[in-house]
Amino acid sequence: MAEFVPVPSFDLVVFGASGDLAMRKLFPSLFHRFKDGQIPRDSRIVGVARQGFTRDAFRASVSEGFATLAKGDPTDPTYQAFLGLIDYVALDATKADDAWPLLVQALAGGEDKVRVFYLSTPPSVFGGICARLREAGLVSAASRVVLEKPLGRDLASAKAINDAVADVFSEDRVYRIDHYLGKETVQNLLVLRFANALFEPVWSRASIDHVQITVAETIGVGSRGDYYDKSGAMRDMVQNHLLQLLCLVAMEPPNSVDADAIRTEKIKVLQALVPIGPKDIESHTVRGQYKAGLVDGEAVKAYFDDLGPGRTSSTETYVALKVEIANWRWAGVPFYLRTGKRLPSRRSEIVVTFRPPPHSLFGKDASPNQLVMRLQPDEGMEMWLQIKEPGPGGLRVKSVPLDLSYDTAFTLRYPDAYERLLMDVVRGNLSLFMRKDEVESAWAWVDQVIGAWEASDASPHHYASGSDGPLQAALLLDRDGRHWRSLV
Ligand code: NDP
Ligand code: BG6
Repeated sequence: MAEFVPVPSFDLVVFGASGDLAMRKLFPSLFHRFKDGQIPRDSRIVGVARQGFTRDAFRASVSEGFATLAKGDPTDPTYQAFLGLIDYVALDATKADDAWPLLVQALAGGEDKVRVFYLSTPPSVFGGICARLREAGLVSAASRVVLEKPLGRDLASAKAINDAVADVFSEDRVYRIDHYLGKETVQNLLVLRFANALFEPVWSRASIDHVQITVAETIGVGSRGDYYDKSGAMRDMVQNHLLQLLCLVAMEPPNSVDADAIRTEKIKVLQALVPIGPKDIESHTVRGQYKAGLVDGEAVKAYFDDLGPGRTSSTETYVALKVEIANWRWAGVPFYLRTGKRLPSRRSEIVVTFRPPPHSLFGKDASPNQLVMRLQPDEGMEMWLQIKEPGPGGLRVKSVPLDLSYDTAFTLRYPDAYERLLMDVVRGNLSLFMRKDEVESAWAWVDQVIGAWEASDASPHHYASGSDGPLQAALLLDRDGRHWRSLV
């Protein structure tokens, strides 16, 4: 049984409380922590958005979101007790709105408590909200701010946001979320690498042939089309989630698990990424956009049609990249990254392929060893080894996995990434959050790729929904004599 250590009583203000993320992830995650007894009953949660809900109407809306988006049961008495923690204040958080005193009132008496401001709004309003919080006198000694990703849309806007936030909150009170870092298996990557002596001697160019990082989704852009069309897969997924995964695979051992020790090692990886400029985009990148097709047996529309009638767009819903890291450990080892919407399966995984034995005793049969870390779904890991296929008929080599499925090995319910991250904010643990310079380094690299795409005439290649993505992505690896691990 997992043990949950209660966090101190806190006040949490969720800006953007009526939005998709708050309804689908934040409130359900808070409920689960409440249900497990981790959130003290005198904690307070205040939702803020411009829409004029009464407190009861807002609670009803959270409850409905829990039933429809999180498939929960709002009639559960514990859920009703959880709703009792929730208040609502309608205000335009970037303006000197008359309703600010209502928020001050809702937080009265909590000056000494941990106070968390969670900005689940478009990033363009992060700076404005921080300035208004200070004006309203709400920034107490124990206040901290949580910023959702993506932080800006390029390096310049990320810096502007970071600077505006830094005017009000010191860096040790800024929690930049990348929810992938809160996933159980992503954290296990650190443990696997640094708690097992087995891996370190082979974790380099000497033994590793290449690494693949895949985040495949079956969903399309859904109701987030307006946001997504301005971002695309590169800003929405690669700049944050995929680069963070790459950092955890590639970083040097930190000297402790302190937030800064880990973040310092990650940033060294980001700074060592080889730039992909105009002359490399053909050989190192592939962009795609989904057309209509079949996903899980269901007919789905093209990206254009998901955006709305008569819309066209050259935004990418798929990216594949060949990324190189210029340092001693990784020189010459490609990291192939791919992510896309409307692919045949939901699958996030990291695959480390080792070099073949230097001399083959058993002919061409042997496949290389692979370590597969499955992040979702069916979290676990596989170590693919060669064995002799049992039975008579000669000596045949067969590739088999040592398979650890978390689901069968452990009987725990796996907390959503947001559950852990929210509690880490209250506890004041920054390890799983991104530092200012880390986010900016990621943008600096991503900006060059996007700039090179924008300078070219090329548009994303179309792929049928339910397919593996554009053919060009297969060719990206084919040219290097490699192939992607299957998505089905
Ligand atoms: P939505 O557009 O669904 O929600 C935005 C929310 O912000 C609404 O509640 C809106 O309410 C509120 N809002 C906007 N402007 C203001 C303002 N000036 N003052 C007060 N409230 C305001 O966005 P999402 O929930 O999808 O995303 C929120 C953030 O989380 C974004 O930064 C996004 O990039 C990030 N994110 C979202 C994910 C998701 O799956 N949805 C995943 C990862 C990150 P109202 O209009 O009534 O003011
Ligand atoms: C979000 C992206 O950050 O991550 C979404 O904005 C994407 O577009 C989501 O669907 C994927 O997260 P998960 O946890 O479902 O893999």
